[in-house]
Amino acid sequence: MRQNLVAGNWKMNLTYSEGLALVSEITRLARATAAGAAQPEVVICPPFPLLYGVGEHLPPSNKFHLGAQNCHHKESGAFTGEVSARVLASVGCEYVILGHSERRQYFREDDELLGQKLKAALAAGLKPIFCVGESLDTREADETFDFIGRQLTDGLFHLSNQEFDRVTIAYEPIWAIGTGRTATSAQAQEVHAFIRERIARAYDAKAALNTTILYGGSANAQNARELFSQPDVDGGLIGGASLKAADFMAIVQSF
Ligand code: G3P
Repeated sequence: MRQNLVAGNWKMNLTYSEGLALVSEITRLARATAAGAAQPEVVICPPFPLLYGVGEHLPPSNKFHLGAQNCHHKESGAFTGEVSARVLASVGCEYVILGHSERRQYFREDDELLGQKLKAALAAGLKPIFCVGESLDTREADETFDFIGRQLTDGLFHLSNQEFDRVTIAYEPIWAIGTGRTATSAQAQEVHAFIRERIARAYDAKAALNTTILYGGSANAQNARELFSQPDVDGGLIGGASLKAADFMAIVQSF
């Protein structure tokens, strides 16, 4: 279901006490938000060890949700160091980020593995936030749409209509992640519209209109409002700017 949504990806940052301090400040700011202000869904995605504690300190509003940054593709078993989707659900996770470019790059996650992770996440009742995005070389070679089209077809469009309905897509151009070089709102809109058109082709127009598509890649309190004003941008997947409560909540209030 399409909705305005801002997700904070804390990545491999913050100790347990630092994480509780951050979510407590987010909660304080959320409580101070003017009643009636436009409220998107907000997902906080801390590192695994912080999940339960952060979840327990989220604002009491039903607009705030807990998410994980990854999950294993099996339900349980001898996979030392891994965390299953059902365990994530058991500590209060509602969302899970899958296919982040950093996991594709550093952990060699390919479309086949991501397809299994999607199935495991959906089977556990989680809502996947599925990431796609091109490298600078791909963009400069004018191959962005071909590349993202393949990521969608090979990694995501095997899902049934009912399964796909639970998926949020995040467009994260790799060249914008952590670089301070944000995509222009026109660049973001162009790719988001392409993604929506590919969804319509793979499923139908209703699915395309009902899919939440987030932008990620150096989004911040200064550029969020323009990015989110684009017709096919439904919010953001935020990295660095999610680690400061005031910046993150300014992004949340940018609709
Ligand atoms: O998952 C969001 C992240 O990749 C974006 O990072 O620091 O560019 O907002 P950042």
